Amino acid sequence: MGAALSSSTPIAVIGAGAMGAGIAQVAASAGHPVKLLDNRPGAAAQAVQGIVAQLNRLAEKGKLTAQAAQDTSARLSAAAQLSDLADCGLVIEAIVEDLQAKRKLFLDLEAIVSKDCILASNTSSISITAIGAVLAQPGRLAGLHFFNPAPLMALVEIVSGLGTEREIAERLYASAAAWGKTPVHTRSTPGFIVNRVARPYYAEALRLLQEGAADPATMDACMREAGGFRMGPFELMDLIGHDVNFSVTRSVWNAFFNDQRFLPSLIQQELVDAGFLGRKNGRGFYDYREGAAAPTPKTEPQSQAMAALKTARVVICGESAAAQALSARLQSAGVASVAGSSHDGRIAEVSGALLYVTDGRTATRRAAARSDRNVVLIDLALDYSKAKRLAVSVADQCTADAAAAAIGLLQAAGYAVSRFSDVPGLAVMRTVAMLANEAADAVNQGVCDVPSVDAAMRLGVNYPAGPLAWADQIGLGQIREVLGHLADSYGEDRYRISPLIQQRAYAGRGFHV
Ligand code: NAI
Repeated sequence: MGAALSSSTPIAVIGAGAMGAGIAQVAASAGHPVKLLDNRPGAAAQAVQGIVAQLNRLAEKGKLTAQAAQDTSARLSAAAQLSDLADCGLVIEAIVEDLQAKRKLFLDLEAIVSKDCILASNTSSISITAIGAVLAQPGRLAGLHFFNPAPLMALVEIVSGLGTEREIAERLYASAAAWGKTPVHTRSTPGFIVNRVARPYYAEALRLLQEGAADPATMDACMREAGGFRMGPFELMDLIGHDVNFSVTRSVWNAFFNDQRFLPSLIQQELVDAGFLGRKNGRGFYDYREGAAAPTPKTEPQSQAMAALKTARVVICGESAAAQALSARLQSAGVASVAGSSHDGRIAEVSGALLYVTDGRTATRRAAARSDRNVVLIDLALDYSKAKRLAVSVADQCTADAAAAAIGLLQAAGYAVSRFSDVPGLAVMRTVAMLANEAADAVNQGVCDVPSVDAAMRLGVNYPAGPLAWADQIGLGQIREVLGHLADSYGEDRYRISPLIQQRAYAGRGFHV
């Protein structure tokens, strides 16, 4: 394995925008002399001043010693021209996201730096292979993809193009680790790891909205309060900006030759067309303008059926995580239940209603397959014992009384209940199954390994669990079933099951075991 660069190695960062400044701060904090260069006059010096001010703030807050802030500041300087970078052992490019501009910069650099200087690009969407194609020494170019804000985000994707030498990728990996980051290796394929595997987080939410499953505030609340995600997909897209998020989606979709997996959404296209770009200009899915009402999720009113539970017979069926948590939560709420078996996956019975965790079929389809038709489905929760909210859907054939009894039971167990229209897979289950599907394809196609994709999604986009570890926890058989049912509900290639999920499920193995 390649060794980390010695901390005395001078590093150059070109492009002193948000990313370049953050990367310069990381490298200088790790002990490297760092030169910042930008083609906008004064931008590099201004960025150095900004980093110094940031280091001083950290020192004031006690997160850094005054000495460390001073030493780090002293290692930073603004360069005036490319030829000032001749002595650098690593140059990290963070300029405009444009292939020709990046190619030209690296070509110019090759004429200036020594033969053993490593060249790295912070690009989030351009092929490292394509940048390297014009270079005399493509083997020394790799992607070094930081996440915003670079000083705070732990993940760095080390991206190897077709021409990248393994030794170079290893040295960058070791160096990023020495800087306190968590590096992961990936191949130069569209979206690398994070920007590829995260697509379903937005795409499934947009599909659900298009199908009228629930409104954005309700879906966001379910993704946070049941799924354990830090932000729901709609508020997150509003934060990222629809122009940026839509352009990443389009670029990944185009790069995969219009694979339906990544199909962009007309809803998001319309927001972009309208100029409703999100938080940054006051309006996206939500209204951020002065005086606008805060969005509230739709929650079922506490039902009369809760009172009726005192006399109803509640059966908790089987020992799934959902059933066990429901039983414990009811017990602590003083609602008596008896244990029963679960021959068909049901988790509970109450007043004629049958509760199941979604398997990707609609409740109506599931009810049609049986004689007692009062089927109510609940969504996936990261942890049913802690979840605050659950999405439910009710079969068209279900009586109003049975639906009320099922919802009342969940409310008695302390869940806020959001009723969705009867869409396949609900929100959290459908999203997590598709995230795992994409992660499995990335592994299956040699983009990265299992630990890397899980670490990347936890650290790059703060998911509460890595998608493959999460799939293991749910059970790969169940994930396969959900995806299979989504595929036959929609008849779209989008929901095709990753061969690796199929293989591991048939083998009775998880990804981590
Ligand atoms: P930015 O627009 O804030 O900064 C780019 C800087 O590069 C500007 O100061 C500009 O004057 C300078 N520049 C442009 N062309 C140049 C050239 N030929 N030579 C020297 N300086 C030049 O952009 P940002 O957001 O910092 O992104 C930079 C790179 O990092 C892009 O490749 C982007 O895809 C990538 N990236 C961005 C992330 C983000 O969240 N903003 C996250 C990860 C990667």
